[in-house]
Amino acid sequence: MYRILKKEDLNPSVCYLEISSPQIAKAAQPGQFIILRITEKGERIPLTIHGFDEPEDTISIIVQKAGKTTDQLCSLNAGDGLLDLAGPLGKPSLAVKEKRVLFIAGGVGAAEAYPIARAIKQERGEVAVILGAKSAEDLILEKQLRALTSKVYVSTDDGSYGRKGFVTDLLSEILLKDKSFDLIYAIGPLAMMAAVSNLSRHYKVKTLVSLNSIMLDGTGMCGSCRVTVGNETKFACVDGPEFDGHLVDFDELMKRQARFKKKECRSRKLAGKK
Ligand SMILES: Cc1cc2nc3c(=O)[nH]c(=O)nc-3n(C[C@H](O)[C@H](O)[C@H](O)COP(=O)(O)OP(=O)(O)OC[C@H]3O[C@@H](n4cnc5c(N)ncnc54)[C@H](O)[C@@H]3O)c2cc1C
Ligand code: FES
Repeated sequence: MYRILKKEDLNPSVCYLEISSPQIAKAAQPGQFIILRITEKGERIPLTIHGFDEPEDTISIIVQKAGKTTDQLCSLNAGDGLLDLAGPLGKPSLAVKEKRVLFIAGGVGAAEAYPIARAIKQERGEVAVILGAKSAEDLILEKQLRALTSKVYVSTDDGSYGRKGFVTDLLSEILLKDKSFDLIYAIGPLAMMAAVSNLSRHYKVKTLVSLNSIMLDGTGMCGSCRVTVGNETKFACVDGPEFDGHLVDFDELMKRQARFKKKECRSRKLAGKK
């Protein structure tokens, strides 16, 4: 049993959890993730390791309520336990080696961008961040990212904070003025990562995306997280989750991501949610 030591609601649909896990805390690197189960009958879900150097051998995760299991996870509190945690999984981020990186973080994607951006700063690299969300209420980690860099640009879809529009509007403006980034790193909804990759291809700036394909075992055995990258079949859990955004077949991935939609809706309703 893995004990939850701290729980905080970052906004009505996103929560932060600190979990006691000395072994994962020791081994984890930026860009890696865990797969957890809350109870024996529960599903296994992957979540980025947001923090792994907090005191007392803990890791932290940031969870967006997307369906039954993430709803359930955000309803837990300090003192509650999780049945199992597997990790750290996936390859550590390659971005840490780059000198000038522009992050584009959509919604809960900021949870993964932060530890990678912090590691780049620790290596004396330069970081800029475009932070996007549906509205002001949905933005997370703005203060923490501003403490890392003065270059944080914010946009909200409804214009309730920062620039009104999509992160790609800000990205076009920045790339028109400055094409000297070594890397663009996009993390967020698939449609956002696809749009960023299309734009950065035009400007010929190397781009990494972190793919949130549906995962089950996290070991490359089940094939659930299959994704086509540069006409080759890859498994996001062991070959990724980071890939060259210019080579990912996003259309195929978006179709695969929606394949359990009906079952997911049914399971959420059975759990008493809308
Ligand atoms: C490497 C990786 C890191 C992730 N990191 C985070 C994170 O830090 N914070 C966060 O809030 N979310 C993260 N996710 C997404 C998270 O795993 C899904 O939101 C979660 O599994 C949804 O489960 P559910 O039962 O609540 O929702 P469901 O109703 O089952 O599904 C809602 C949506 O979530 C996606 N999803 C469902 N099951 C899985 C699964 N087993 N694997 C991946 N996606 C799934 C599907 O697109 C689905 O449409 C990450 C995904 C991956 C692959
Ligand atoms: S989750 Fe099973 S192969 Fe990747």
